[in-house]
Amino acid sequence: MTLLVTGGAGYIGSVMVETLLRRGEKVVVVDNLSRGHRDAVPGEVPLFEGDVTDRSFLDLVFSAHSIDGVLHFAADSQVGESMSDPGKYFRNNVVGVLSILQVMTHHKARRFVLSSTAATYGEPDEVPITESAPSAPTNPYGESKKMCESLLRWFGEIHGVRWAALRYFNAAGASEARGEHHVPETHLIPLCLDAAFGRRGPLTVFGQDYPTPDGTCVRDYIHIEDLADAHVLALDHLKLAESGVFNLGNGMGYSVLEVIESVERVTGRKVPWNPGDRRAGDPPALVASSERARTVLGWSPKRAELDTIVESAHRWSQAHPTGYEK
Ligand code: UFG
Repeated sequence: MTLLVTGGAGYIGSVMVETLLRRGEKVVVVDNLSRGHRDAVPGEVPLFEGDVTDRSFLDLVFSAHSIDGVLHFAADSQVGESMSDPGKYFRNNVVGVLSILQVMTHHKARRFVLSSTAATYGEPDEVPITESAPSAPTNPYGESKKMCESLLRWFGEIHGVRWAALRYFNAAGASEARGEHHVPETHLIPLCLDAAFGRRGPLTVFGQDYPTPDGTCVRDYIHIEDLADAHVLALDHLKLAESGVFNLGNGMGYSVLEVIESVERVTGRKVPWNPGDRRAGDPPALVASSERARTVLGWSPKRAELDTIVESAHRWSQAHPTGYEK
């Protein structure tokens, strides 16, 4: 049986492919290469270039391979962009999941692991956040993923699809061979590294008047290889057990200024930065309780320290200063 990784040429998807291959799984990738990189996909893995919103294209992929499970990463994921172009998020993210579910139901593929997000919670009343916290997204990105989770519930109930929605907190870091290369880059850790090495100008710190200890936003950073491990456990879990939602984070919150300090410790360089306005749609603090993933899936993150995560990102960006560009 084969596993389909959508968005397998992207940041998290490509590390997922690497992890599945190490486990001896047969993998195919679907990616429209709008954000992903062909070179991020190992040569031996079939790459189908196309869009997950295109059902006839997906039908061809499912007809060519006997696909048993889908790990779905092909989505737009920038909070800021979703505040200026909500239609893009509802179309690509929600229609994408709907198309895959329809095609996989037709082909009798049964397991679906969704790359969901902490952004489904909005501004939580209590931190750390548990899966039962109210879901009230503050941006269209989070809302679109909440809608994807609803689709999974109904396809589970009516068509018997088994699903896991993994709500990531802030994915970060790199594996030995694969790392973060977004165009444009909007994520804090690669921007700090670039600023420290003069690959771009000073970082702008978005808002210093949040209700947090130092006034900057607090996030829970999680290593992408720990994320990939959780997907493998979720796939195994779905062979036998019930569908469900799982938070994936380390349970430790770091402010923007603390991330800057970590990058300075790891690189031995100053990160130049300027204060800026708040970025629309940013909740003040997102920190996970991942108890459920630990007890139900048996997940335990192995690279939890912020400095370890930053070190891996630093190593990758030193080895690949222009990312996947030749
Ligand atoms: N930040 C800055 N300056 C920058 C970039 C980011 O101050 O130039 C701040 C942001 O305001 C935020 C923190 O750094 O407080 C982290 O920002 P990122 O853009 O790295 O990540 P986000 O928290 O916005 O979003 C990430 C993913 C989303 C996911 C979310 C869940 O990109 O897909 O984590 O926590 F939904």
